[in-house]
Amino acid sequence: MTKRTVLTGITTTGTPHLGNYVGAIKPCIEASHRDDVNAYYFLADYHSLVKNKDPEKVRQSTLEIAATWLALGLDTETAMFYRQSDIPEITELTWIITCSTAKGLMNRAHAYKAVVQDNVASGEDPDFGINMGLFSYPILMAADILMFGSTHVPVGKDQIQHLEMARDIAQRFNHHYGEILVLPEAVTSEHVAMLPGKDGRKMSKSYNNTIPLWLSEKQLRKAIMRIVTNSLEPGEPKDPDDSALFAIYAAFANDEQRAEMRQAYADGIAWGQAKQQTFELINGELAEGRERYQDLITHPARIEEVLVAGAAKARRFASPYLARIREAVGLRSLA
Ligand code: TRP
Repeated sequence: MTKRTVLTGITTTGTPHLGNYVGAIKPCIEASHRDDVNAYYFLADYHSLVKNKDPEKVRQSTLEIAATWLALGLDTETAMFYRQSDIPEITELTWIITCSTAKGLMNRAHAYKAVVQDNVASGEDPDFGINMGLFSYPILMAADILMFGSTHVPVGKDQIQHLEMARDIAQRFNHHYGEILVLPEAVTSEHVAMLPGKDGRKMSKSYNNTIPLWLSEKQLRKAIMRIVTNSLEPGEPKDPDDSALFAIYAAFANDEQRAEMRQAYADGIAWGQAKQQTFELINGELAEGRERYQDLITHPARIEEVLVAGAAKARRFASPYLARIREAVGLRSLA
């Protein structure tokens, strides 16, 4: 059986939210149970340093995101689960591939370009507030992916460009040094790739529109009640495809539930009722995990132990592979 290597990371900024759950954590935990999958899931704490300059927040977010994966049942015996900064091979590889990455490729990165455009629009220096971490971010991400020979990388649509860049970088490297790096493929799924936030834009820490995953039952209900809807009255038909509330419901629902809710919208379900049903569905799915999360988050030493063991396991792959890469580029023993 040829196995696929599925790898994904979550940047450790902020508190895990529903978008992280449906977009990454849940499908990845499911994938990790398949026989034909080698799973690598990690905490992208180096990536978080680009924006997050508060050391305590870096630590807290790492703790919360790690606890989330574990609370939701990731089996760390079968899946590799580690913290990026515990794998020095990743940063070594970052430099090696930095030297075969065209600067022009980085100039084209959407995330970087957006900041430059904002700067220009507001009359600032184009480079205002831009550190080299932001500029080189896609190279670090490529190293995360290439270090483990990843074949499939589940990501949100906003990350597809980064995957294309990782392929470009790998191709250019291989062209010069031989077929060593594996070209990864982005995997996006229709229902989950773009969970909208409370305001209808993509749920993202950058937009400040997230619903945190581990709210209490009461807080979760409140947050769902605050999702923006239009002013259609009960009894008036509503368009599910133009509704953030429906998209959020759909991300948690099975096919049958999704079809029923679609019909309910057409039949003019009241927004309040649609919200109540959305709350019940999500709360039902998260209730058990919530208890395990609360337990884990108060025992950080247990989480640390899991991460340290995970890093040791991941390095058993990364270390010999990096040795081959070093050899290929000429970083060789002289003896
Ligand atoms: N850039 C990704 C995000 O913000 C996080 C990330 C870092 C990642 N390294 C990765 C995702 C490698 C997939 C693979 O969502």
